Amino acid sequence: MKASARQSNQPQKSRFTSFSPKQKRVLTWWTDEDRERYDVLICDGAVRSGKTTAVAVSFILWAMECYHDTSFAICGKTVGACRRNVVQPLRSAVAGLYKVRASGNVMELSRGKRKNRFYLFGGKDEGSAALIQGMTLGGVLLDEAALMPRSFVEQAMARCSVEGAKIWMSLNPEGPTHWLYTEWICKAAEKRVLRLHFTMDDNPSLSENVKARYRGMYSGVFYRRFILGEWAAADGLVYPMFSEQMVVQTLPENLVRFVISVDYGTMNPFSAGLWGEADGKWYRMREFYHNGREKGALTDEEYYQKLEELAGDCPVRQVIVDPSAASFIQCIRRHGRFSVRKAKNSVLVGIRHTAGMLSEGKLLFHASCRDTLREFTLYVWDKASGKDQPVKENDHAMDDIRYFVETVATGGNFSFR
Ligand SMILES: Nc1ncnc2c1ncn2[C@@H]1O[C@H](COP(=O)(O)OP(=O)(O)O)[C@@H](O)[C@H]1O
Ligand SMILES: [Mg+2]
Repeated sequence: MKASARQSNQPQKSRFTSFSPKQKRVLTWWTDEDRERYDVLICDGAVRSGKTTAVAVSFILWAMECYHDTSFAICGKTVGACRRNVVQPLRSAVAGLYKVRASGNVMELSRGKRKNRFYLFGGKDEGSAALIQGMTLGGVLLDEAALMPRSFVEQAMARCSVEGAKIWMSLNPEGPTHWLYTEWICKAAEKRVLRLHFTMDDNPSLSENVKARYRGMYSGVFYRRFILGEWAAADGLVYPMFSEQMVVQTLPENLVRFVISVDYGTMNPFSAGLWGEADGKWYRMREFYHNGREKGALTDEEYYQKLEELAGDCPVRQVIVDPSAASFIQCIRRHGRFSVRKAKNSVLVGIRHTAGMLSEGKLLFHASCRDTLREFTLYVWDKASGKDQPVKENDHAMDDIRYFVETVATGGNFSFR
């Protein structure tokens, strides 16, 4: 490719020395007859498949080759994500090719007399939609476009009024009712869209070992979306990967870092689990589950006594609590024995991480945790809703497990998505 040939004379070398055939198609579509045929490029598919890299590098080469003194937009989910996922790798990729001057959220790239401006936007950042509204752009790059509000994406597209302007997107699949899928991917032919579908095999930098590790991290609907790259519906069990093999009769003796996670309820069931870690795995050692509707509601004070019983002799460091349970959080604090943390409560991200840990064999359950074992077999996606959401039944132990995973167990290991 032109870029690497030019770069070979430069002191600062790009780490991108070769590209896969799919990536090469992305790098060249604007140089051949496809340029006349398409106005939009959509690269969708698996995680880590080299979509962002190929789209970003090609976008910059195209902009710098075809335009002068023109404005472009580079958009991520947030400006922070945009810098991290697009701009930093991009700077390494085009190092030495262009002179870069960055100030605030604007980057000016130049070579000789030719220069263009690239504005950074975050689709989810407040104010970004208003800022982009008044602009006239030669092109827009939308990274992780499926995670941005539709209004922002459409506004960004509407700004592309310069002659020959093009829209470039990279994204991971969501459910099949997502508007980007129904309105753009399914209507690719009539909307002058070049759609390229990626899998991890399209990224030449991934070893077989790394690919196998990623495959092991996802299952169920997330495997279909993030590994196979399908726009799959969330249907059936939320945790189909849960199996008898994850149930243990005896606990290891070297458990440490004890934590309790709580899903609070008065008329709805209250669920709490005691966790301990050994050898990189977390064990749900025992649990307390109380259905107030069937057995009569307990007071906060009575629930607190149940937590004490659940902790027993274990030196519990923290209690992770449902963030909406304000009075119970106060009650635990008053007693002064446990430190309290409000749980992170992003349902879908939490489910994905919990599914990942289950698939990797990092979450295990003592056989006494009967309500957890029961809920695993009953917790299902609400297909009728058309959205990615579980049916709000049999979800109490499921919620406290998710709080635990999101707040304690993942420890930031899932930053790639
Ligand atoms: N041709 C390539 N050569 C070297 N590294 C690459 C190449 N393509 C992608 N990568 C690296 O692989 C990782 C995943 O690529 P990325 O473009 O972020 O994938 P996606 O957007 O599909 O998740 C990144 O670290 C990226 O730098
Ligand atoms: Mg990406």
